Amino acid sequence: MSQTSEPTATGADALRRQLAAAGQEHLLTYWEQLDDQHRSLLERQLAAIEWKRIPALVAEYVLKKPQLAGEGSIEPARCYRADGSNWDKAAYKAKGAGLIGAGRVAAFTVAGGQGSRLGYEGPKGCFPGAAVSNKPLFACLAEWIAAAQSRYCRDTHCAIPWYIMTSPLNHAATVRFFKENGYFGLKKHDVMFFTQGVMPSFDMETGKVLLDQTHMPAVSPDGHGGSIKALADSGALADMTRRGVEHLSYTQIDNPLVRVIDPAFIGLHAFAPDSSGEMSSKMCPKAGPDEKVGVICKVDGKTAVVEYSDMPAELSGAVGSDGRLKFEAGNIAVHVIGVKFLQKLALGGADGGIALPYHRAEKKVPFVDLATGQRVEPQKNNAVKLELFVFDALPLAEKSIVLETERVEEFAPIKNAEGADSPESCRRIQTRRAAKWLAAVGKGNLVPVRPDGEPDCTLELSPLHAMEADDLRPKTIKPIARGDEVIL
Ligand code: UTP
Repeated sequence: MSQTSEPTATGADALRRQLAAAGQEHLLTYWEQLDDQHRSLLERQLAAIEWKRIPALVAEYVLKKPQLAGEGSIEPARCYRADGSNWDKAAYKAKGAGLIGAGRVAAFTVAGGQGSRLGYEGPKGCFPGAAVSNKPLFACLAEWIAAAQSRYCRDTHCAIPWYIMTSPLNHAATVRFFKENGYFGLKKHDVMFFTQGVMPSFDMETGKVLLDQTHMPAVSPDGHGGSIKALADSGALADMTRRGVEHLSYTQIDNPLVRVIDPAFIGLHAFAPDSSGEMSSKMCPKAGPDEKVGVICKVDGKTAVVEYSDMPAELSGAVGSDGRLKFEAGNIAVHVIGVKFLQKLALGGADGGIALPYHRAEKKVPFVDLATGQRVEPQKNNAVKLELFVFDALPLAEKSIVLETERVEEFAPIKNAEGADSPESCRRIQTRRAAKWLAAVGKGNLVPVRPDGEPDCTLELSPLHAMEADDLRPKTIKPIARGDEVIL
């Protein structure tokens, strides 16, 4: 027997028992026909799944649709206003800057998604993000971290460590990309990668896990909420504790405009009297009642995100005495999360962790038909995928604050190949923000404008040059011609 086949055979017996107990033994249908390499691949992938939890998940989420959330009392969330009208922005910014300078803050980016709507093959972070130079999304975020480090850690020489969550499906490509690009100017030992878990895809009718190939179950990353367990399991939380990091600035990889490290937000999160320093959120006012975005609300007195599909229509459309939507707080997936809170969530429950609920999505998932052995590309939804969402941790925080931000200032996600939230809309918003900042420092006349008020050019502004409008004041900028593409 070869070196690999003996442990495989032993492991396979244990695995077969686990699968049988979970009603999923069919995953070994082709075992006898597989060569050693494919057997060990299948065994490794199956071993990564917690089979003892699967029957309950199938019963609760796959074979029936779980009850909609948001049954409790839903109230609008109180928000700190973007213009600082109801809080002392300068004071909180100074407090947040102090924490960053003392090395208490790290950046955390979730980059394990599959980017299926965008239809891009590689990790989404490798996709072009900057409006003119086409620098990748990873570079856009890295530049913000480098800029924040040189601004807030100048005297202390502290680092802002960057934790990046990948998935088993894109980990190697992500790490390779960083190596090839010299970690985008950051120090290698301050950039940490770790992988999230995966969840199998289930046949919608039977609850059986699908085989993608004879030696491979159909799996996908377990959602950005999988980050909580992955942060603990990977040792990232322990690394933070060792470094003295107390707060994580959570952002997603697909938004190149995001303020990866925002001292005012961090200051509010850590010091506002109505924050427990556990988990805070930024919101953008919804563009209208029908915008398909989760809304940050108070549900039974706790801050929570209610998904747009779960929001009663009469609440979505309700307008307050100030003329604003009452439930306006669109969730833009920007949070600050306390490291102690993450430790409590990851390690504090009866079975070692506090379980977040799964979200069910019906999808088309190719599979091997066990009756024929043929691979089938389904034409309609045939499968259920289960994902965890990070915002489901919000109600577990004792007190959680919400900070408003303007869409043009920091929300230009790239989700789709075309239309809303596409590379094109992202370029437009980047341009608008640069034009807005130029106008704010009296340089608006340099930007050509179309009759509809849109800048008649494409502008790119690296955080290494300006992290806010004021940074543009001392810069000399040449007038921009109509249709020009300019890196400011
Ligand atoms: P999305 O929900 O937009 O998903 O992720 P996606 O995978 O990027 O794209 P689609 O839905 O397949 O088109 C929002 C953020 O959460 C991360 C993504 O990488 C992105 O930064 N994410 C999502 C994870 O890190 N892991 C996941 O399992 C899902």
